[in-house]
Amino acid sequence: MSFTIVEPVTSRLNRSELAVPCSRVELFEKAAKGAADVIFLDLEDAVAPDDKERARKNCIQALNDVDWRGKTISLRVNGLDTHWMYRDVVDVLEGAPGKLDLIMIPKAGTAADIYAVDMLVTQIEAATKVTKRIGFEMIIETALGMQNVDAIAGASKRNESLHFGVADYAASTKAKTVNIGGPHPQYGVLTDKDADGKRDYFWGDVWHYALSRMVVAARAHGLRPIDGPFGDFSDADGFRAQANRAAVLGCEGKWAIHPSQIGLANEVFGPSAAEVANAKRILDAMLAAQREGKGAVALDGKLIDNASIKQAQVLLNMAQRLGMAV
Ligand code: COA
Ligand code: MG
Repeated sequence: MSFTIVEPVTSRLNRSELAVPCSRVELFEKAAKGAADVIFLDLEDAVAPDDKERARKNCIQALNDVDWRGKTISLRVNGLDTHWMYRDVVDVLEGAPGKLDLIMIPKAGTAADIYAVDMLVTQIEAATKVTKRIGFEMIIETALGMQNVDAIAGASKRNESLHFGVADYAASTKAKTVNIGGPHPQYGVLTDKDADGKRDYFWGDVWHYALSRMVVAARAHGLRPIDGPFGDFSDADGFRAQANRAAVLGCEGKWAIHPSQIGLANEVFGPSAAEVANAKRILDAMLAAQREGKGAVALDGKLIDNASIKQAQVLLNMAQRLGMAV
């Protein structure tokens, strides 16, 4: 281990994070009754410019009146380059003191962006005498934000998670996209001809580098990496495939832009009964090895070591949190 110890941030379930535009008041109760781990109340891009003020009022009322059933509640404020953002923070924090858990900062570009919001939130918390400390989640969705992702991740003690905002990221980098967060038919590898002259074409994962880069920056600062939206909410298999890729790279969850995606995200990012059983077998095998004074040991013909123990322990902790039999 390095002498620099990375402390993990406040631990929360973040398998699914549902987007709820504050312009649609009928969605609040439905979101609260659903199975999303985190709900983000959106004042940014899902709300039309003429509707911003009304949406902010809706948001304050919903934070005060709706029974959110213990869910983690985040507020996506407008960008720092707009004239709405300061009132989003001031009005909501003063109008619904102590109700929010997180603020989501869109299009985070530099560490100074986070510093600015931190300053504002710190003053409001002191003035309103609210002791619950709000955490930050940052969307990495511009070329500038990706370039500065490491500094952004380390910019505030309030930071909890980084989110890959694939749609704006594609716009910012001028990437070609067909469906938000999905693959692209032109991003593939054409194999050389085989003996019969036949060639294969394999679709590649166009988001691999960006997501990996964000995952590394998040984990190096103890933050949760979260994958962003998948636009085609009628394509459950497409969502599951993208969520699986994100989970394999280390993400802890994914956005749901429609209720149909919540269960899929919870399933992909929550441990299955088989994974729980396997984690228990790993721990048992390692305990037996330790009793015999061995460091590394084989299970089912494969090496398991200290890293396997850590992974198994993380999985079992989550299973316990979800009330699964462990
Ligand atoms: N939160 C809670 N409930 C939602 C919801 C959401 N985000 N989106 C849809 N629902 C509800 C609908 O009200 C409907 O409820 P009902 O069965 O009681 O009538 C049900 O889920 C099915 O919704 P559906 O009719 O298929 O969708 P829609 O046409 O009402 O809305 C979207 C589709 C995409 C416009 C909507 O889901 C949405 O606004 N999602 C968030 C998008 C967003 O915020 N994007 C920004 C981040 S990328
Ligand atoms: Mg965006």
